[in-house]
Amino acid sequence: MNILILGSGGREHAFAWKIKQSPLCKNIFVAPGNPGTSQIATNVSIALNDFEEIGNFCVAQHIDMMIVGPEDPLVNGIYDYFIQKEKLNHIHIIGPSKQGAMLEGSKSFAKQFMQDFNIPTASYREFNNETYDEGIQYIKQHTLPIVLKADGLAAGKGVVICNNIDEALLNFEEMVQKNKFGKASSTVVIEQFLEGIESSFFVLTDGEHYCILPEAKDYKRIGEGDKGLNTGGMGAISPVPFLTNDYEQKIIQKIIEPTISGLKQKNIDYKGFIFIGLINVANEPFVIEYNCRMGDPETEVVFPRIENDLVPLLYSLKSKQLDSHKCIHSAKHASTVVLVSKGYPEEYEKGKRILHVQDIKDSIVFHAGTKDLNGELLTNGGRVLAITSIENNLKEALDISFKNATQIDFEGKYFRKDIGWEFTT
Ligand code: AMP
Ligand code: GLY
Repeated sequence: MNILILGSGGREHAFAWKIKQSPLCKNIFVAPGNPGTSQIATNVSIALNDFEEIGNFCVAQHIDMMIVGPEDPLVNGIYDYFIQKEKLNHIHIIGPSKQGAMLEGSKSFAKQFMQDFNIPTASYREFNNETYDEGIQYIKQHTLPIVLKADGLAAGKGVVICNNIDEALLNFEEMVQKNKFGKASSTVVIEQFLEGIESSFFVLTDGEHYCILPEAKDYKRIGEGDKGLNTGGMGAISPVPFLTNDYEQKIIQKIIEPTISGLKQKNIDYKGFIFIGLINVANEPFVIEYNCRMGDPETEVVFPRIENDLVPLLYSLKSKQLDSHKCIHSAKHASTVVLVSKGYPEEYEKGKRILHVQDIKDSIVFHAGTKDLNGELLTNGGRVLAITSIENNLKEALDISFKNATQIDFEGKYFRKDIGWEFTT
């Protein structure tokens, strides 16, 4: 079959890498893709939110299945666009409807959903311009720290954790009254701070059945020891060593099953991935966030641990036959270490020459922010490459990723040398 993947990061390179291994797959296209995907698929220069152009391309190239990598097109309703068009509605879209994508696109929607179905999450209230004064009073009597979340998509920057009331009041004012994140922060969710270790769970669903993918832990902060600014993710590991059978059963019973049955009860059309960000508080899982897609860089450790062909599972979603498939998890350990440009996640330079990628033999090098200029590989983003290793134990996998992270070179290269540190020292 012919498959189109939307996106251009390490996650989409990992999708192309996994799907390429399927005997069911004839042609793979990635829009817009990157120099990594161009080695195994055909890159197509189409903007992610140009649904008409994407639709025309699908018709012209006889696309059977389209996998949507990032959240933006999903939150903007690409699924609904395809379903409503007669010439496109035969295509299998991997990704939820616009309403389903609100689990990520609106914190307020997600919190209400969890409340409706008794899914454990931090207690909260939401406020907007009309309830602004109530919000001020609520903050003044809140325990510290206070978590403020812009309701809508804010490029991963919409969550602020405040350690004193004045800081919370200032952020609340900036979000609601000064449009800090534009329309995304006209409503703000204020929630209880939860303390514990975070991990990420990934579920594939056809809206009725589900299948659990390998879990992961990512490292979001720029600095070692989890210090400094939040990033898109500096590295990840899978499996997560602290995950006991008992804790996993709690996640399934208290979170995954009520989420799937909640989608069904609300008649939400959801055929795709659910990424559940969890926090472990005294051995009880709480949902920090839902995402309507796979994670990046989590996909770069999750997919290498799936032993079977993913294409039949994805293809079964449209006819709601996921129950006749399984996802086989490898017993091996995967790690990924992300190389970033100097200055990231703030301003950074692009166009630096990347050396020695072709010399790496014992890791998979997934491209993210790279560019090919007349055969020369250059940096073209904050997160440049993700170096994934898969070995019998975590320490070995990390050692190889770190060795190769040192070998690959570009001016201003930075990576965290402590990915997985808490489980290997
Ligand atoms: P999000 O954008 O929702 O993933 O939030 C970004 C990060 O903020 C999460 O990965 C957590 O580390 C942190 N966070 C969000 N909500 C809470 C909370 N209620 N308690 C503690 N930390 C939180
Ligand atoms: N690594 C976090 C995310 O993909 O949202």
